[in-house]
Amino acid sequence: MKMNGPAGLRIRLILIFWVAAAGALAQTPSAVGERITPHSVRFFSSQEARAHARPSLCLKEPLPATGPVPGDWAVVPGFGRVQGRPTAAVSIAEGTDLYGTGEVPGPLRRNGTRTVAWNTDAYAWNAGSMSLYQSHPWVLAVRADGTAFGVLADTPQRCLIDLRAGIRFEASGPDFPVIVCEGDSPQDVVRELARLTGTMSLPPRWALGYHQCRYSYTPDSRVREVASQFRKRHIPCDVIWLDIDYMEGFRCFTVNTWDFPDLRDLNDDLRADGFRTVTIIDPGIKREPGYHVFDSGERIDAWVRAAGGAPYVGSVWPGQCVFPDFTRTDVRDWWGGLYGRFLALGVDGIWNDMNEPAVFNVPGKTMPLTNIHRADAALGGTDTHARYHNVYGMLMARATFAGCRTARPERRPFVLTRANHLGGQRWAATWTGDNVATWQHMDMSISGVLNLGLSGQPLAGPDIGGFTGAGSGRLFARWMGIGSLLPFARGHTGKGNIDKEPWAFGPEVEATCRLALQRRYRLLPYLYTLAREASVTGLPMVRPLFFADPADARLRDQDDSFLLGDDLLVVCRTSPDGDPPQTMPRGNWARVSIVPGDLDDPELPSLYLREGAALPLGPLVEFSDEKPLDEVELLVNLDAQGVAAGRLYEDAGDGYGYRSGEYRIMRWKVDRMTRDPRIVGDVEEGNYSQPLPATTVRLVESATR
Ligand code: GLC
Repeated sequence: MKMNGPAGLRIRLILIFWVAAAGALAQTPSAVGERITPHSVRFFSSQEARAHARPSLCLKEPLPATGPVPGDWAVVPGFGRVQGRPTAAVSIAEGTDLYGTGEVPGPLRRNGTRTVAWNTDAYAWNAGSMSLYQSHPWVLAVRADGTAFGVLADTPQRCLIDLRAGIRFEASGPDFPVIVCEGDSPQDVVRELARLTGTMSLPPRWALGYHQCRYSYTPDSRVREVASQFRKRHIPCDVIWLDIDYMEGFRCFTVNTWDFPDLRDLNDDLRADGFRTVTIIDPGIKREPGYHVFDSGERIDAWVRAAGGAPYVGSVWPGQCVFPDFTRTDVRDWWGGLYGRFLALGVDGIWNDMNEPAVFNVPGKTMPLTNIHRADAALGGTDTHARYHNVYGMLMARATFAGCRTARPERRPFVLTRANHLGGQRWAATWTGDNVATWQHMDMSISGVLNLGLSGQPLAGPDIGGFTGAGSGRLFARWMGIGSLLPFARGHTGKGNIDKEPWAFGPEVEATCRLALQRRYRLLPYLYTLAREASVTGLPMVRPLFFADPADARLRDQDDSFLLGDDLLVVCRTSPDGDPPQTMPRGNWARVSIVPGDLDDPELPSLYLREGAALPLGPLVEFSDEKPLDEVELLVNLDAQGVAAGRLYEDAGDGYGYRSGEYRIMRWKVDRMTRDPRIVGDVEEGNYSQPLPATTVRLVESATR
């Protein structure tokens, strides 16, 4: 816990005294606080607000008070009201930098910005868009000395996050509590956020491979053709995606048998070639008696209601639609049950889209706020869409996750969702929606994914190459270079757009894409290790540069470079002819090659290995389970003492054997004290039955030594 200078200390101590004594805060004389974890305190605007607080929709479980506010607690929000709306504000000392706020456009550092936490169908969004598809009313603040705190506005309602002068939340709806957590570092605070809101579930390993999508690959012969091109051209790829045209008239859980006469057969053939399939499922259900999903939903009266009490009807892809009320357990169970028969067609993962929910041709592109959800009591009971809008997509993803889990208990679900809320990382990965094929969008895909990671969502990525607009081959190559090093790597583009497969822009771009994806596949063991870490601790897989040295002010606004884990620094050129950023964390970072030829390709980001790191690289494969991990090359940058260390997590890549010990965490130490590098490998944890991989070492020369 940190005070900012003696004056700050005095002021805070006075405030704390007031809070602890339930005394007077400037704006709200009756504000009250309570400790909920060793590092977090929850504040309410008054005893009355505390007594009437609604259930939290982002915390992973209700967190009762465990004691009073610690006497030296530094950050205390002031509560107030603006035009009847509740507000909460925290002042920040000079040198404090702000991050998080979820899925946002624009720079990594959020000081001076305003964001509206309101799930929005933001087709072709831009740098000025105030709300995108997801809502994370959460701010990470890093003080000048590198210590950090986080502020969470615990409300699902529409919420302005105003960072123009300190941190200020202004929400629609009732008073809301504010949770403040403290840490010695930003990493501590992000881990604490995961303790509060949960971690992502460990994805199947194939989900970390490259994904190829478009709106839409159709008919099935086109899908086969795209898949076979990957293998023919030796460009690694794990997953082919089916967008809405695979359905019969956009009816969810149906198949257009004209274009896909035998989806099971297609999926089996793809699988034989090492591919998985992910299919899209939207929330809008065509209002059509005779359609099995509509009929079975009708039987349980599953739909969100309009204010007058009849099912709300809105227009989406299939025409007039009704919308499942995912706030109800019985509806989530019914929805989850629909996946059994569907997954039996050989589908591997599910993509939940349009779940803000998006509605066509209406103001605000969503359903009326006066619509009624008959929510579970645990979520707060019956209330309007104003309360449940921001969690609609999250609850849909939760139902989908549960349905996949029940349908195939032996496999890990993989769900991608467009809309989500803080805490929704437990059930689904995400992508940054309908972006545009411009250099600026490529640039924003780095900061966007970094801020999602700082807001609890580690598994995210952009539509590589841009969803709308064509873009040049050079942009595509550059974007693939960057996107292939982000946690979720999927190429996608919109209906009627040009082809955007890695080979679509000619041989030169194809060569860059091949190298980019070969890099990703050699890094898969490391990526999987990071995914495991994220699933346990909540630390993001990609991290801002300042994670390397939180007290180094030079790193705070760097967002053209990022860290993959702690060990690999990725330096990107985000404008066509600009130079790469020069600012690097201190220490001897060594430029490294992951695959032959990557150092010579000017379109690829440069990679640097941290001093003291031993990075495990796997063999070059074209899909993630092509062969067992039988060999590892340790890429080693010895530190000044001549030593380096590295770690690797392994398991079966799918299923839950790891929960009963079927996994291994290997730790290597490399030492130059003997003439040849000495490798010491220890199994730190787990009883994985696979043989240990044969390990070789490649020493790299440090750039600055
Ligand atoms: C939405 C999605 C996009 C998808 C399209 C058709 O625009 O964001 O990714 O391709 O719908 O399903």
